[in-house]
Amino acid sequence: MTAKKKARPRTVTVVVDGTPRRAWEGQSVAAALVAGGTWALRRNPVTGDTRGPFCGMGVCLECEVVIDGRPGSRSCTEHVADGMEIRTLAYGGVVRQGEGAGECGAVRQGPGTGEGAAV
Ligand code: FES
Repeated sequence: MTAKKKARPRTVTVVVDGTPRRAWEGQSVAAALVAGGTWALRRNPVTGDTRGPFCGMGVCLECEVVIDGRPGSRSCTEHVADGMEIRTLAYGGVVRQGEGAGECGAVRQGPGTGEGAAV
């Protein structure tokens, strides 16, 4: 007996910080961002540390981004939609010199990539 081949989900185009990206329809915004190499989604308002998805279920608020103009949107609980505009907060708002020590969910910049890595 041969296994039935499962159809791939449709792809959609989202705009992340002004750059178009492909994502799987039905994928969470956080998953789409991480799959595209974007881990740093916001900054801690006190320390300025970059933060990224941590719980993945809408509890920790570490994944907040601006989705279609709505600030404070939890990227882990929203699904991508074609034409969706996503703005990460990691590189706007509070910025301080250097990066803080690793808290849970904290993200540091990777060398030369412009993207972060979870620590
Ligand atoms: S990752 Fe925790 S609320 Fe989204």
